[in-house]
Amino acid sequence: MDLLQQDRKKLGNNLDTVSIAVEAVMKPSVEMPASAVSVKGYDFNNGIDHGAVIRSMITTGFQATSVGEAICEINRMINWRIEDDPSVPADDSLPDPDNPNAPPPPPPKCKIFFGYTSNMISSGLRESIRYLVEHKQVDVIVTSAGGVEEDFIKCLGSTFLAKFDVPGKELRDKGLNRIGNLLVPNANYCAFEDWVMPILDEMLDEQKTKGTSWTPSKMIHRLGQKINDPSSVAYWAYKNDIPIYCPAITDGSLGDMIYFHSFRNPGLIIDIAADIRSINNHAVYAKKTGMVILGGGVIKHHICNANLMRNGADFSVYINTGQEFDGSDAGARPDEAVSWGKIKIEAKPVKVYADATIVFPLIVAETFAANVEKLKAAK
Ligand SMILES: NC(=O)c1ccc[n+]([C@@H]2O[C@H](COP(=O)([O-])OP(=O)(O)OC[C@H]3O[C@@H](n4cnc5c(N)ncnc54)[C@H](O)[C@@H]3O)[C@@H](O)[C@H]2O)c1
Repeated sequence: MDLLQQDRKKLGNNLDTVSIAVEAVMKPSVEMPASAVSVKGYDFNNGIDHGAVIRSMITTGFQATSVGEAICEINRMINWRIEDDPSVPADDSLPDPDNPNAPPPPPPKCKIFFGYTSNMISSGLRESIRYLVEHKQVDVIVTSAGGVEEDFIKCLGSTFLAKFDVPGKELRDKGLNRIGNLLVPNANYCAFEDWVMPILDEMLDEQKTKGTSWTPSKMIHRLGQKINDPSSVAYWAYKNDIPIYCPAITDGSLGDMIYFHSFRNPGLIIDIAADIRSINNHAVYAKKTGMVILGGGVIKHHICNANLMRNGADFSVYINTGQEFDGSDAGARPDEAVSWGKIKIEAKPVKVYADATIVFPLIVAETFAANVEKLKAAK
């Protein structure tokens, strides 16, 4: 007698009630489609292989799968070639009339817009970001004021590891500023003031004598040249002519410096209108665009909005901790951007809900860094 028959005998009159429960629990399922993927994580019996651990994430589930999907999406950006994509008209640029015998320009690639919040530069993620800029792996950058100045400040003095719970009063008395579990001595900001003020004087002088019209991106380019330090993101952006846009450039220590400078030596003008034209044109005239955005706020929206000008980015990866229930743009999933025309309807965007300091270096290892030699040769 099988288990069900034994149960029936014991249950007698209660049979009807139980059979409902049995049917509910044992409800037959449909056949899974042949394309369905089984969940499987990394087996450490195969040895300690960090690359294989990262590659196993895509079949692990939860945010590990999102990390795996982000790796695939970034590799699609990196590997896109115009000749493989019949949906994009072939490059029709005419030979340079002033130099008709010049070799034709290389075929256009996917233009990668890269954004990160200020705290990412305060953290050790700066080294991953610098690597991408040093090796020309991204084409257009957007960050907030802290993302610009903390890069220079780190060239002038260290940021230190601490704890999240060091009392603010204790730190204030010691002249130490806290960013999460990091500390920046006030002396670093004083060194920044000493370094940046003469450059602001020089910029104002150029504005008056040569008619230079400064924008945030031109200013960052100049600061990148002046810092002359290969540990700096802006230094490599200057060397490789990669624009860094910062629409809210005054919301940080740079704003404090511009404020003080306006009393010491008034008249410096920084024009944000020219920069909006410039970043939007990067999107409008690209054959294909991808967005890699770490964090939310202004930097996320500025990149997405530029891509609205081309009716949406073709590839997108968001990595942030924002949630959508409050209606914030910071927490909005990529599908909200599809509704605005900031991501193309046919795109396969990915959002990873995670602290970028944990997941982004892993993603870089399996995307940009893994392809760096091939990509350098193609640029
Ligand atoms: N070091 C600093 O953080 C610093 C320094 C100076 C000035 N500021 C100024 O503070 C203002 C606000 O900073 P912001 O706009 O750069 O970003 P933010 O710090 O306000 O963060 C915006 C959103 O990004 C997401 N995010 C932030 N850190 C993340 C992480 N590690 N992983 C995943 N998601 C993350 C969160 O959803 C967050 O709400 C800016 O104007 C900036 O210039 C910041």
